[in-house]
Amino acid sequence: MTQAIEQDRVLIFDTTLRDGEQSPGATMTHEEKLEIAELLDDMGVDIIEAGFPIASEGDFRAVSEIARRSKQAVICGLARAQLPDIDRAWEAVQHAARPRIHTFIGTSPLHRAIPNLTMDEMADRIHDTVTHARNLCDNVQWSPMDATRTEWDYLCRVVEIAIKAGATTINIPDTVGYTAPVESADLIRRLIDTVPGADEVIFATHCHNDLGLATANSLAAVAGGARQIECTINGLGERAGNTALEEVVMALKVRADIMPWRTQVDSTKIMNISRRVASASGFAVQFNKAIVGKNAFAHESGIHQDGMLKNAETFEIMRPADVGLAASSLPLGKHSGRAALRAKLRDLGVELADNQLKDVFVRFKDLADRKKEVYDEDILALVHAGEDAANDALQLKSLSVTCGTGGPASATLVMEVEGTQKTATQTGDGPVDATFKAVRELHPNEAHLQLYQVHAVTEGTDAQATVSVRLEEDGNIATGQSADTDTVVASAKAYINALNRLIVRRGKTGQDRREISYRDVS
Ligand code: KIV
Ligand code: ZN
Repeated sequence: MTQAIEQDRVLIFDTTLRDGEQSPGATMTHEEKLEIAELLDDMGVDIIEAGFPIASEGDFRAVSEIARRSKQAVICGLARAQLPDIDRAWEAVQHAARPRIHTFIGTSPLHRAIPNLTMDEMADRIHDTVTHARNLCDNVQWSPMDATRTEWDYLCRVVEIAIKAGATTINIPDTVGYTAPVESADLIRRLIDTVPGADEVIFATHCHNDLGLATANSLAAVAGGARQIECTINGLGERAGNTALEEVVMALKVRADIMPWRTQVDSTKIMNISRRVASASGFAVQFNKAIVGKNAFAHESGIHQDGMLKNAETFEIMRPADVGLAASSLPLGKHSGRAALRAKLRDLGVELADNQLKDVFVRFKDLADRKKEVYDEDILALVHAGEDAANDALQLKSLSVTCGTGGPASATLVMEVEGTQKTATQTGDGPVDATFKAVRELHPNEAHLQLYQVHAVTEGTDAQATVSVRLEEDGNIATGQSADTDTVVASAKAYINALNRLIVRRGKTGQDRREISYRDVS
């Protein structure tokens, strides 16, 4: 079968669920695999390698179910060059609207030595297994594992055998990440020029990242004539991983001027699937990872932040929205300048006169020297520090709690509510829960608790705890913060502070919704 593909198109073959899952420790559950396959299919990935069906009962079940549920994507199952492997792969993928069997064998001298096959014996094995696969399925991919360390003449010979036996895609793996871009392009180009029948099949590239060259090698292979890139989300994979899907998709998009090959992948879905794969595999994405790292669209230094505020193109070659991110971030730290502080305050709804800004900036620099990252709450606390809380509608007067192993915790709270002192006692699942319930008894409200966070500011058992509470009510958000050596007291004050801010918000109708924060300074 001739594989027709427009020459300006590159197929994206995702192997997160097979090669990616092979990374030590990256095992995903059945449900996680189904969900990731659905996301891959939805984002326009052409081929999903869903697993290695003979490897385990679990892999078989996952590949079968992914095949059954597939929509557009071709669903592929991996098989060694053995008839039972191929039968099992077919059993699993046959349920897909568009099934593919992928069979492989190591062809380099080091890999031929393992099954102890001569070159001729291996050639026969390739012929027999590809023929068998092709009799089951009309879409067959064949890979000479460790192709980049296989003798040139032998590589040409086995690729020709696989094509004659019916393979429709020939994948050329750089299994140990050994090749370099110039060589990668040249290898594919020479194979296409040399091997009889090469123009009847699609050549694929499958690069590992041992030298950090996987994405560059994959794109070079495309320049050499490959029309399928094998990759994984976040570059997950054996050892240093594989070519990262997000990198090739964005490189082709951003540098279409020099790499004029299209993919049908919707890049705006990248961030979502990256996060999903990171949480399912347990492999957190490194902060400085291209495209999907936390810092990929973050700018801290004064010069960069100033440039970004004037024109984002000064320091960004793609828009955050192109990968599904809402916006770039300008985290404030010790390298940040006044322009970024002013912009951040504006975002938070605070407009300061120049002399006030100067004053807050001095205090901000002092804080940034002591703290790695300065959060919105910190900035607002700097602005509001020293503000008089005497006019707040809700004022904590006293709190006592009982908790321990014996039963539910209880809290007795005395609070002034608009000038009237009131008392409530509540039980709860722990002292904080009991305290919050007591606050709600004295000041009934529908505010939804969005965040409750405790930080130890100092060390030791007498550590000062800073508690942040974020509440949401009818689209209004308010944050309260408080510090105390007693975590429960700090929690109560932070909660009451946030409620006080909401009360102020309720009174201010018709204004922009914005976050108001208050820090207890007592
Ligand atoms: O890296 C490799 O060679 C592979 C093959 C199974 C294609 O993953
Ligand atoms: Zn691999």
